[in-house]
Amino acid sequence: MKRLPIIIDTDPGIDDAMMLTYAFAHDDMLDIRLVTTCSGNISQSKTNYNARAFLSYIGADVEVARGLEHPIFRELEVAEDIHGESGFGNVQFPAPTLAESNRPAITAMLETIMASNEKVTIVATGPLTNVAALLLAHPEVKPKIERISWMGGAAVGGNMSPTTEFNAHVDPHAVEIVFRSGIPIVMSGLDVTHKAYVTPDEAKRILDIGTEFAEKSYQLVTFYLDMMKKTPFHEGNYDEVLHFHDVCAVMYLLKPDLFEGQDCYVEVALEGNTAGTTVVDYTNKTGKTPNVHVLHTVKREEFVGEFMESVRTISDRMN
Ligand code: RIB
Ligand code: CA
Repeated sequence: MKRLPIIIDTDPGIDDAMMLTYAFAHDDMLDIRLVTTCSGNISQSKTNYNARAFLSYIGADVEVARGLEHPIFRELEVAEDIHGESGFGNVQFPAPTLAESNRPAITAMLETIMASNEKVTIVATGPLTNVAALLLAHPEVKPKIERISWMGGAAVGGNMSPTTEFNAHVDPHAVEIVFRSGIPIVMSGLDVTHKAYVTPDEAKRILDIGTEFAEKSYQLVTFYLDMMKKTPFHEGNYDEVLHFHDVCAVMYLLKPDLFEGQDCYVEVALEGNTAGTTVVDYTNKTGKTPNVHVLHTVKREEFVGEFMESVRTISDRMN
């Protein structure tokens, strides 16, 4: 099967690490040409370090390029209350052997996309700052981008405020730029990611894999759960489970049949205390042409099984 050329833009972050696990476990189906880091869960220095440390640890050989330090207009808001000060909870990984790319993220994305013989898919699992900056600075890349698969936004609810999801909340202007780009977009918002959860008992199946990597993965996800219990923002009423938000953005590309969604017109609020709210027109009240495929359902059991299998794949590869 021809591998899908992709670039991953990420802010690791615990569920970003789970996403990287799933993506690199499927490098037989994904041609991961570049990883870029964005500022979100924690600051750019930490996300870049974490990406390089985690990818080095799982034996991935990939360029990791540093992205922008803060959102386009807003001050950076981080999520250390969920992911911990380091971004990886209390889990330590060996120092990275992967060096930071000598190309900044936007240059690396531009050159990777323009050099590709095929269109490239962008997987984005943090604020869209880097992707928006790429499109503003180099619109010539647009025809060479197959699709943007983004974890972010929500048709209903929020985890940073009653109506805003974190990645959209941090940089709503970037969302607006990307959503207006004309590039095909699939959005794994909270509507689907709040159904893509792992229960504490299911999480123990990670531990049962019995490797050091499995133990570290389990420590990551249980830290996340413990922090969820302490935060004022319980994600929906699921504060006893772990939402593997970012995994959806990759799994959809490989297993679309596990998901259901709808083409909708989506815009984002840019000002005031609802800035970052993604307004999803499910019933076409605006009469505007749909610009985003919004996911709303996932076959949860299969999702969990797919993820567990990816932990086993990486574990087997490391041992
Ligand atoms: O709202 C969930 C998103 O915010 C995930 O991408 C998580 O990693 C955080 O960045
Ligand atoms: Ca993320």
